[in-house]
Amino acid sequence: MAADRRGKAETLALRRRLLSDSCRLFYPEDPIKIVRGQGQYLYDEQGAEYLDCVNNVAHVGHCHPLVVRAAHEQNQVLNTNSRYLHDNIVDYAQRLSETLPEKLSVFYFLNSGSEANDLALRLARQYTGHWDVVVLDHAYHGHLSSLIDISPYKFRDLDGQKEWVHVAPLPDTYRGLYREDHPNPAGAYASEVERVVNSVQEKGRKIAAFFAESLPSVGGQIIPPAGFFQEVAEHIHRAGGVFVADEIQVGFGRVGQHFWAFQLQGEDFVPDIVTMGKSIGNGHPVACVATTQAVARAFEATGVEYFNTFGGSPVSCAVGLAVLDVLEKEQLQAHAASVGSFLMELLRQQKAKHPIIGDVRGTGLFIGVDLIKDEATRTPATEEANYVVSRMKENYILLSTDGPGRNVLKFKPPMCFSVDNARHVVAKMDAILTNMEEKVRSCETLRLQP
Ligand SMILES: Cc1ncc(COP(=O)(O)O)c(C=O)c1O
Repeated sequence: MAADRRGKAETLALRRRLLSDSCRLFYPEDPIKIVRGQGQYLYDEQGAEYLDCVNNVAHVGHCHPLVVRAAHEQNQVLNTNSRYLHDNIVDYAQRLSETLPEKLSVFYFLNSGSEANDLALRLARQYTGHWDVVVLDHAYHGHLSSLIDISPYKFRDLDGQKEWVHVAPLPDTYRGLYREDHPNPAGAYASEVERVVNSVQEKGRKIAAFFAESLPSVGGQIIPPAGFFQEVAEHIHRAGGVFVADEIQVGFGRVGQHFWAFQLQGEDFVPDIVTMGKSIGNGHPVACVATTQAVARAFEATGVEYFNTFGGSPVSCAVGLAVLDVLEKEQLQAHAASVGSFLMELLRQQKAKHPIIGDVRGTGLFIGVDLIKDEATRTPATEEANYVVSRMKENYILLSTDGPGRNVLKFKPPMCFSVDNARHVVAKMDAILTNMEEKVRSCETLRLQP
């Protein structure tokens, strides 16, 4: 097969020689060579089948035949830029607009989540005439220079925080400043944003935007308390800024109850800008920015053209339309709601059984299992989480960790993930955790022996 022209060791050696070490591999001690994908499964060069619990880019399933066919058919006819009239781009914008609140009615097409967030930043600055940005702690918004600057997850390891970037606490009700026992965590976390806004203004600076993932993923699969975004939007709007909801990881029906994750906050909340990527192209580079007429008009007023060579091409839009068709036809949003709540229930039973599980949180097929050293301190069980991930891999299950402590097992599988997959994963996790506990107990027994 073309994808497996050489042995795994030779591929690894070539990769080490030709690619930068900055481009990391999963499981670096024993990387996997993947040559094929289908649905929620990936296959290595020997034909071994792995269950994929983390790839939220292959949203409707790896290599979905309808998406592949849509790309192929359009590729045979035409692929050019968006400067000619073409039905695909307007059909796609129309279909996306049907999923969003009416106010978000202007669309820009791009190739990656990073490009979408960078354009959102330009739009916000142009519309407001302000420069500064407020972000949530531990956030990641992309790899461009502008976005590394607004990603505490990255800039903390680099040159640090720019003077125009301001960080508000992550609304984490399990390990954050205000927890599940607080009477109004949404209000308390929003007051922290207000405090940041006030201190920015006291310095004579002006806020262009607040950026947040609707559900912070790199931050540790966090579910912000409902009502938080509404209050934040009030503080940001009062300061003349706009609210940017990054839906790159969490949009498109993943959360089950709603099509967009920001809708979990309540029907009265509408961001000024929404950015999309990853899942919307199911692996093909498609991204989008949706915004209001007012923001778009201000951007147009510069007279400068927005041009993107590949963004919004007939092929990209055909792919985007096919992803929407599959979501609808296979009712994947409802599927995510029911499989996700089944998986959450199984994981909660595991929490009752294994003290290392401190918290199980999530909605739809966006779930985090927070592993802790002990309940009193909720110290992240980082090594244990890594151990679980590597043992799961031995069992042909692909999982990974997130969160500042890298201790949160994250589930964000392709949306066709099934009830049987959920049962299988949890049974394996149960066996691994039970075995870990037995090992710890036998060490303690040894230590107790005279
Ligand atoms: C929340 C979020 N925003 C933006 C991006 C950047 O997207 P891309 O890698 O497609 O540029 C990512 C990528 O991981 C992301 O997780």
